[in-house]
Amino acid sequence: MAQRMVDSESSLLPSPFPEGWYFVTTRRDLRKSEVIEKQWMGEDIVVWCDDAGAVCVAEAYCPHLGSHLGPDSGGQVCEGRLVCPFHGYEFDATGQCVATPFAAPPRSARLRTFQTREICGMIFAWWGIAGREPQWQLPAEEPDQAGWSGIKLHTMRFPGHPQETTENAVDIAHLRYVHGYHNVDGDYPVLVDGPRLESQFDFSRAQSIAGIGSITLNASARAGVFGLGYSFVEGHEHSIGMDFRLWVLSTPVDGRLVELTLAGQIGEMRDPKRPVIGLRFLPTGLRAPLMNRIFGAFQKVDVQQDVVIWSRKRYQPRPRLCRSDGEIMTYRGYCRQFYPAQEDVLQLPTEQVTAARLAGR
Ligand code: FES
Ligand SMILES: [Fe+2]
Repeated sequence: MAQRMVDSESSLLPSPFPEGWYFVTTRRDLRKSEVIEKQWMGEDIVVWCDDAGAVCVAEAYCPHLGSHLGPDSGGQVCEGRLVCPFHGYEFDATGQCVATPFAAPPRSARLRTFQTREICGMIFAWWGIAGREPQWQLPAEEPDQAGWSGIKLHTMRFPGHPQETTENAVDIAHLRYVHGYHNVDGDYPVLVDGPRLESQFDFSRAQSIAGIGSITLNASARAGVFGLGYSFVEGHEHSIGMDFRLWVLSTPVDGRLVELTLAGQIGEMRDPKRPVIGLRFLPTGLRAPLMNRIFGAFQKVDVQQDVVIWSRKRYQPRPRLCRSDGEIMTYRGYCRQFYPAQEDVLQLPTEQVTAARLAGR
């Protein structure tokens, strides 16, 4: 069934890999594992960092004789260099081979790398059509971490496409119908400015909090979408008096599956408004982490409800919309920029593009 969805979807959406910035890993995971291997945007990649903390995201195959460089094949980091398990070529964080065990390193031995950007300990890399350089950047300002709980991440993997997962940010009707939100007010214009899209909505929902009580949450949220891999939601919950942040990071794995990472954090709660959940009895420093856990659990349930739909849906290029839908078509228009035609990027004559397509390149 999943295969059917992907076959039909990929024939209708221009590519399973729209251009943009996509989540790779966290600084914390990198510290734990030294070198990480994964499939990302249809590429086998390795990620590591040197002693100065510079992160390298690179293709996983050695330019010497093609060994996989990941830890499962024996790839490891020594003194900040990634060492190939086959003949010991060593690569610095720019991807350049800088040493081999028995001879001078060939200057041409260089890994294909992807440009990176780090935001609050989360590492993103640029995936460009035909390997081209970043055409735009993620927001320059990093959200300030002072006065906020740590960031809690949760990742799910399922058949899907980043355009489809991100579309939910403007799909107001599903908030009511799938997630049971009330009083959803999405009567704000969706703003598009190049690679940035902004949407805004207010909602309320009754929520039971196991063992602590139940509460009606009233929230206002604003989502900033930067391409199809990075959405950042900032909001305020009015009943408790709580600020929240949520990153929704959708990353294609192999053209069929996506990994959706939720990264959430809660602002410090000096004076929570409602005693109902016993927050006042907790030391201030413990309130935000506790609420972050609770909210993380809510978000997980919300996304699991979405996953049931996402993983079996089919992309409808001409949706038959009704008046209660959000600005789906504004969003669809915004998405087009992330699928530049390969021939425009390469500026190749048409015969070469056709030949490349026939050759499956
Ligand atoms: S294949 Fe990597 S050093 Fe030979
Ligand atoms: Fe949803």
